[in-house]
Amino acid sequence: MTSSLATVSYIGATILFILSLGGLANPETARRGNVFGIIGMTIAVLATVLGPRVTPAGYAWIVGALVVGGSIGLFAAKKVQMTQMPELVALMHSLVGLAACLVGFASYVDTSTVFPTPAEKSIHEMEIYIGILIGAVTFSGSIIAFGKLSGKIGGKPLLLPARHWLNLVGLLVVIWFGRVFLQAHDIGAGMTPLIVMTVIALLFGVHMVMAIGGADMPVVVSMLNSYSGWAAAATGFMLSNDLLIVVGALVGSSGAILSYIMCRAMNRNFISVIAGGFGTGGGAPAAPAGGAQPAGEVSPIAAAETAELLREAKNVIIVPGYGMAVAQAQHTVYEITKLLRDKGVNVRFGIHPVAGRMPGHMNVLLAEAKVPYDIVLEMDEINDDFPKTDVTMVIGANDIVNPAAQDDPTSPIAGMPVLEVWKAKTSIVMKRSMASGYAGVDNPLFYKDNNRMLFGDAKKMLDEVLAALRA
Ligand code: TAP
Repeated sequence: MTSSLATVSYIGATILFILSLGGLANPETARRGNVFGIIGMTIAVLATVLGPRVTPAGYAWIVGALVVGGSIGLFAAKKVQMTQMPELVALMHSLVGLAACLVGFASYVDTSTVFPTPAEKSIHEMEIYIGILIGAVTFSGSIIAFGKLSGKIGGKPLLLPARHWLNLVGLLVVIWFGRVFLQAHDIGAGMTPLIVMTVIALLFGVHMVMAIGGADMPVVVSMLNSYSGWAAAATGFMLSNDLLIVVGALVGSSGAILSYIMCRAMNRNFISVIAGGFGTGGGAPAAPAGGAQPAGEVSPIAAAETAELLREAKNVIIVPGYGMAVAQAQHTVYEITKLLRDKGVNVRFGIHPVAGRMPGHMNVLLAEAKVPYDIVLEMDEINDDFPKTDVTMVIGANDIVNPAAQDDPTSPIAGMPVLEVWKAKTSIVMKRSMASGYAGVDNPLFYKDNNRMLFGDAKKMLDEVLAALRA
C-alpha cells in the first residue's frame, strides 16, 4: 500500500471513529456507533500493517501477536460477566499504559532513526519522557482500580500523611530528572533518569487511586480511560503515527468530558476527587455511618402484596441498580412492565447516572431486554415526578436512592444527587438483606413509614411478582 493510500485510509478511519463516538452518545444509535468503530478499527489496522512502514518480514510477528492478543480478548469478553465489565475495562486501560511505557523504552534504545537537527532529537526525547510518564501512571493506577473494583483491594481511601506534599515532591523530582534526561549524551546516561521517573510515575499511579474512596471509583475509571487515551496519543507521537495521535486525543478528551459529567452527576469537584479522600469502603454490611442514624424498623412485604399494589397503581416508576444486573432480572422486569402497561398503568424507569458499576450500565441491560427507550428517563427528567407516583420499585439499588445524601452532611455520599423515591406514595425496595451498597453506608430509606422491603434475589422475587400479577 502506498503512503498516500495509507494516509487516505487513516483519514477515513478517523471520520468513522468520530461518527462512532457520536453514535455512542445515544442508546438508539449506539449499535450503529459500534459498527462504525469496528469498521474504522479494521481499516486502521489494515492500513498500518499493509502500509509503507511495515516490511513483509514483520508480517509473521504481527499475525502472531494478533492471534495471541485476539484470542485472549475474545476469551475475556466471552467469559466476563456484565457486572465485571468495569474491572475488564480497567485492565484494558492498564495494557494501553504498559504499551506506552514499552514503546517509549524501545524508541529510546532504537538508534536507527537519524535526526537532522539536535532540536528534533530533543523533541523526540521529550515525547518519550512524557509518553512513559503518562503510560506508567495509567498502568499502575489502572491495576489498582482493577483491584478495587474486583474487591481484591479494600475500597477505603488510603490517606497518607502529607500526601499532597508527597505528590508535589514527586512532581518536582520528575521535572528535575526530565532535565537530566534531556541533557544525557548517550543512552546509558539517559537510562537512569528515565527509570527513576518511571518508578516515581508508577508509585504516583498507585497512590492516586489508593487515595480515592469506593464511592468515587466511577470517576476514577473514566479518568483512567482519559489517561489511556493520552498515553495512546503519546505513543502516536513516539511512533510518528498520526492516526494514533488523533484516536488517542479523541479517547483522552471524551474520557475527560465523561469524568466531568460524572463528577457533576455525583456533585463532586473533579480536582478534589483526583486529590483523593472521598468515599469509604464498599460492600460491607451496613453499619450506621457518619451520623446517618436510621430510626425504626423495616416493614417487609411479600411478592403477592407487591403485585396487588402494582395492580392498583396508576403511576409506577422502576429504579434499577446494581442488584438487577447481578440477578439478571431485566427480562422479568420488562415482562412486568408490559403486563402493567397493557392494563393501562403508566410505567417508567428512572436511571441514575452512576447506577450499577459502569456508565450506562442500566441503559444497556434495559435495551437488551427490549424496554422502549421513551419510558427510560434520566434522573433529572423524572425526579420531580415521584410525588405524583403511586409505587416506586427499587430493584437492587441502594446508594442512588439514599436520602442521607441530601439530609446528612456528614455522610460520605453527602451532596450526591439521588432519585427521590421516598416521595412516592409507596416505595418498595427489592434486595436480599440489609447490607449496604457500594459506598458502604446505611440507607435511612429502608426505615421510612411508606417504604416496604421485598427481601430476596431480585430475579426470584420478580418472577413471583409476575406470577402473582398473571394469576
Ligand atoms: P449499590 O449501592 O451498590 O447497591 C446495590 C444493592 O443491590 C446492594 O445493596 C445489594 O444488597 C443489592 N443486590 C446485590 N445483588 C442482588 C441480587 N441478586 N438481588 C437483589 N439485590 C441485590 O448499587 P446502586 O444503587 O446501583 O449504586 C451504584 C453504586 O456503585 C454507587 O455508589 C456508585 O458510585 C458506585 N459505582 C458506580 C459505577 C458506575 S460508573 N455506575 C462504577 C463504580 C462504582 P443485598 O446484598 O442486600 O442484596
